[in-house]
Amino acid sequence: MIEAQDNNADAICAVAPMGLLAELTHRCPLQCPYCSNPMELERSSGELSTQDWVRVFQEAGDLGILQVHLSGGEPTVRKDLEEITQAAVDAGIYTNLITAGVLLNKDRLAGLRDIGLDHVQLSVQHVDAKLADKIAGFKGGYSKKVEVAKWVKELGLPLTLNSPMHRHNVEYLEEIIEFAVKLGAERLEVAHIQYYGWAFENRNSLIPTKDQVYRNADIVDEARERLKGVLSIDFVVPDYYAVRPKPCMGGWGSQFVTISPTGKVLPCHAAASIKGLEFDNVKDKHLRDIWLHSSAFEKYRGTDYLPDPCKSCEFKEVDFGGCRCQAFMFTGDAANTDPACAKSVHHKDLLAIAERESKEESEFLYRKFTSQREPAE
Ligand code: FES
Repeated sequence: MIEAQDNNADAICAVAPMGLLAELTHRCPLQCPYCSNPMELERSSGELSTQDWVRVFQEAGDLGILQVHLSGGEPTVRKDLEEITQAAVDAGIYTNLITAGVLLNKDRLAGLRDIGLDHVQLSVQHVDAKLADKIAGFKGGYSKKVEVAKWVKELGLPLTLNSPMHRHNVEYLEEIIEFAVKLGAERLEVAHIQYYGWAFENRNSLIPTKDQVYRNADIVDEARERLKGVLSIDFVVPDYYAVRPKPCMGGWGSQFVTISPTGKVLPCHAAASIKGLEFDNVKDKHLRDIWLHSSAFEKYRGTDYLPDPCKSCEFKEVDFGGCRCQAFMFTGDAANTDPACAKSVHHKDLLAIAERESKEESEFLYRKFTSQREPAE
């Protein structure tokens, strides 16, 4: 039994994270070239056990966490997903299954619904079946996803479609919106790829032009107006064409916590890319202790550590200087201003990279866990 050190419930509630991203596994049958998992994937032999996750969700509930996103890799790879979901439900936490859908069947989905699963988020690569399967590196994936979306609706579960946007589908946004309406989704995430991990490796085969991104913004504006009460649309622009940085994770160590398949507790899914940070593990410590006292969370929490131009910026409590991982990637110091900000001295470099690479032709470098099949033709 791992004892917590801080038992002041009121104080904890005031600073509790809102959401927990539970990366149940890095295993995945898809090979998306923009996969947000780290370059160095964690092996199944080291994954947290069912009992570990049951305890973690009890701790998360006690801490005051409101939402759990059951993710991966592909979370349905785990045969104990039902017990894991049950534990989150028992802890009183809202549960969202983030899935590619290709391994699901209707009975399993119905079972998860009966346990108390609250929501399903399904990824969609493209509205063209052939292109969708090529992007995901998985033959038959598109038609399976359409089937899964229908099951979700038939079972009365709320559905979000998540369509990562890049050069190979950016011109199809209107069709993707139509597709989401047709499938009965309540929400569509049009999230332009953020270039970390595998996406960074594939940047020159993924990044769209600035004009394409701006056109997308107009399409979203028009669709939001037209589809009020039918479909809500979230739109995320690529950092490379931004003027102001995104408030990544709602501020480091402020609203979200991520747990990796082997139990590492991270302030964001890419935090392990920042050299020098050390991460505590739920196998060794109570989640509440880690959230409140872990050095990785403490290091960039708040805004006091930010140097100029953030230090004297009127927006520092709004965007928190942007993304720590991107600041590290481009400046070598995660404390620096995210180069997505126009005030960063590195901003022009980011824009120059985007303008150059958006015109390059390059093949996908597919994510592979071990010896996986060849991508679909
Ligand atoms: Fe790590 Fe933005 S992805 S702080």
